Amino acid sequence: MTAARTVTATRTVHVDLAGRSYDIAIGPGLIDRAGELSRPLLAAPRVTIVSDETVAPLYGARLAASFEKAGIKTASVTVPAGESSKEFASFGRLMNALLDLRPDRKTTLVALGGGVVGDLTGFAASVLLRGVDFIQVPTTLLAQVDSSVGGKTGINTRHGKNLVGTFYQPRLVLADTAVLDTLPRRELLAGYAEVAKYGLIDDPAFFTWCEKNGAAVLSGDAAARAYAIEQSCLSKARIVAADERETTDLRALLNLGHTFGHALEAETGFGRDLLHGEAVGAGMAMAFDLSARLGICPAADAQRARAHLGAVGLPIRLRSIGGDNRRVWDADRLIGHMRGDKKAEGGKLAFVLARGIGGAFVSREVDETVLHGLLADAIAA
Ligand SMILES: NC(=O)c1ccc[n+]([C@@H]2O[C@H](COP(=O)([O-])OP(=O)(O)OC[C@H]3O[C@@H](n4cnc5c(N)ncnc54)[C@H](O)[C@@H]3O)[C@@H](O)[C@H]2O)c1
Ligand SMILES: [Zn+2]
Repeated sequence: MTAARTVTATRTVHVDLAGRSYDIAIGPGLIDRAGELSRPLLAAPRVTIVSDETVAPLYGARLAASFEKAGIKTASVTVPAGESSKEFASFGRLMNALLDLRPDRKTTLVALGGGVVGDLTGFAASVLLRGVDFIQVPTTLLAQVDSSVGGKTGINTRHGKNLVGTFYQPRLVLADTAVLDTLPRRELLAGYAEVAKYGLIDDPAFFTWCEKNGAAVLSGDAAARAYAIEQSCLSKARIVAADERETTDLRALLNLGHTFGHALEAETGFGRDLLHGEAVGAGMAMAFDLSARLGICPAADAQRARAHLGAVGLPIRLRSIGGDNRRVWDADRLIGHMRGDKKAEGGKLAFVLARGIGGAFVSREVDETVLHGLLADAIAA
């Protein structure tokens, strides 16, 4: 009985941002409680659910029923699944579809889906009628531990990903842990890289927990999943509360593994050959290796980071990336992509390095000869 209660209990993480504070509720079955939990926060009992063509058939009707049961008038818009829905043209189509439903400024948008739907809907909410409220119902592990929390919204342009967007906080996040049961294992694993990231950034005890329990999180252990999501949200909420708009280096720590990861994604075309979380997994292993090479991080810690990411099944060796479309990697080209990263300021490469597990910091002083050597070795390995 006690065990069952631990598993089914809803956990709440508060994101403390003065007038824009909100709660993240975490637990199984929250989709069916969305109406009752959102009702007190709504400006008026009207919502429009935005979802994608994979998630809408799985959970759209249940979510709508939950709103209707709470007396909330509900409409829905569905976009194609996948990153292409974050293109400008798709965004335009979504705005027109939303306007066709004749919303008013008290209408609330509800994002039901992964990071694509969350980023797109958050951005739409921030500009629809000059801004309406929105609620996140994240359905991928990546969205539950990362993209639904913190208020970054955005779409893609031909100049790169997420270059048009806003900081716009949701009113509520409902992370229903049971929906992860239908998520493909590869997507789950990609999201797990961002979970382990929080331990590697500043929480060595959580990283140790990940080493012991990562496999359980991935195999569907409900209690382990809920704990991993709660700890991740606590970490992200703490960082976002202290640096909402990334004006210091604090929020930038969340980009651990992302300078390398971005270069790998750019080289593989931001497509299915390498998912974002997979790129981050490989990127974190490389960031720790670079830190060790620079003499900043004990080699044993870099080895531990790499070993755990590899043990859960993330593709940390460049050779293993790309499925049937194996790449011929090139160190100079990868460095070129890093320079194009929006985190690079004035052409200076920015890296999150680590003094050890849980000791991440931002550096703009990386010796490019060392970087080049590291990439060349990673390509040869
Ligand atoms: N705003 C931020 O702070 C932030 C942070 C990280 C990533 N992102 C963005 O997030 C996006 C990636 O998000 P993602 O990894 O969630 O990808 P995604 O939204 O494309 O979802 C991955 C796939 O899983 C499917 N899916 C979602 N939930 C499912 C479920 N419960 N069962 C079965 N299938 C399901 C989706 O339809 C999709 O095909 C990128 O666009 C990235 O830029 C934003
Ligand atoms: Zn990421």
